[in-house]
Amino acid sequence: MESRKNVESPIAFIIFGVTGDLTRRKLIPALYQVVKEELFKGKIDIIGFARRPWGDGKMRQILTAGLREFARDKPLEQKFINKLLDDAIYLQSDFNDEQGYFKLKKMIDEKGYRQVVFYLATPPSAYEKIIKNLAVCSHYINNTDWMRIVVEKPFGIDLKSAKSLESTLHNCFKEEQIYRIDHYLGKETVQNILVFRFANGIFEPLWNKQYVDHVQITVSESVGIASRAGYFDQSGVIRDMFANHMLQMLTLTAMEAPYAFNAFSVRDEKMKVLRSLRPMVGDEALNNTVRAQYEGALVDGKLVKGYLEEERVSDTSITETYLAAKVYVDNWRWANVPFYLRSGKRMPKRATEIAIHFKQVPLSLFNWKNLAGDAPNVLTLRLQPDEGIHLSIGAKQPGPMNEIAPVVMDFCYKEAFGASPPEAYERLLLDCLQGDQTLFTRNDEVIEQWRYVTDILEAWDAKPINKLPQYAAGSWGPIESDEFIQRDGRKWKVPS
Ligand code: BG6
Repeated sequence: MESRKNVESPIAFIIFGVTGDLTRRKLIPALYQVVKEELFKGKIDIIGFARRPWGDGKMRQILTAGLREFARDKPLEQKFINKLLDDAIYLQSDFNDEQGYFKLKKMIDEKGYRQVVFYLATPPSAYEKIIKNLAVCSHYINNTDWMRIVVEKPFGIDLKSAKSLESTLHNCFKEEQIYRIDHYLGKETVQNILVFRFANGIFEPLWNKQYVDHVQITVSESVGIASRAGYFDQSGVIRDMFANHMLQMLTLTAMEAPYAFNAFSVRDEKMKVLRSLRPMVGDEALNNTVRAQYEGALVDGKLVKGYLEEERVSDTSITETYLAAKVYVDNWRWANVPFYLRSGKRMPKRATEIAIHFKQVPLSLFNWKNLAGDAPNVLTLRLQPDEGIHLSIGAKQPGPMNEIAPVVMDFCYKEAFGASPPEAYERLLLDCLQGDQTLFTRNDEVIEQWRYVTDILEAWDAKPINKLPQYAAGSWGPIESDEFIQRDGRKWKVPS
């Protein structure tokens, strides 16, 4: 185990790629909140490491401007900005240049930092060289109590590259020092899946193949690919959302109760789900997935470009901006219960939800008009926005006309707790500073996720197509996806 001595001495929080968007939009606002709410006792000294010719002053200025734009709590309080950024230092270096790392080592030694976080906020292509260079110099960093490294997704682009990245990481750091961020795990409402399931006695007995007909996990986004064509066209929804956020939500929905809420047992249980995924190889993958791309359309009165017209996307690209998949978890709890996962860009709204569709009653007694549908019981965990939980049931419509109408029991986070949940990065950075890995992805999870997804990628590659089905920007996906779920006698739930 790592030593936890000296938590009072300053922590060196070294951000590789400090000049990038992630630092301004997410990391610094999250650290500001941690400082402001005094969630962490120690002092945090930021050391920015990047290529651009900035100095300490310029970095502080740009990070402060980022705070003005992206901080959660405004107005900002100067004393907390000062506390976070007054001692921030910029170290200019190419990621390939060993000298930069030796300067960094010298700085750490001279300042006597005993706790060090290395944060990789760079494009993934820089990961391996940074890790290797760090290994050379971190070996000589003296007298630290602990060193941790934080790695952002994507952790590779397929099974082979993920294994290579993992092996580089493990050559240099121990697993207990590695914090792989899947920011969905930092969302309060994603954590609430476990609290809802395991702190309440009422639903868990129903949470299995006996009572559940199927599960739908939806992440719809109204945005397109913005300026990320270079990255997105190489990734598609499968690598960008499915291989990580969506499979992680699936594991939390399907896993067994851990023996305790700690990093070992929660991740062990998630791992069992990943190992139980029924592999999708060859035609299985083709038959159980639907890919599509958005095409230009009028959305809220504005003309939105189609994916193939986006800048830096080739007009022959077959990268999917929408993906639906039918996934099975082959274990006793979930045998033959389909999990339908879908995610897309340029859909009608931003919504993330997990909907548990319960089975029908064994025999229908009411030969009445049923406006609630045949199977009205759906439990929806709304993860964003308007976070909450929502149970739909059929009730008798008041009056003499004998009708069943759908009604809902609703819990809304904001109403119940009077505040919106904090940002995912606030929780994750705090956990990293405190040495809690529960909400970070373990190496075996990453490998298992890629094993599953790589079968699908290979099946797609083996049967190349010229063009993907299209859906109008601002719609709920292609007709092929509706037909896909209708073939099983089901339909997509429109997120509430
Ligand atoms: C990121 C993906 O991991 O998650 C983006 O790379 C996506 O493409 C984003 O838009 C969605 O995150 P959130 O927190 O806005 O749901």
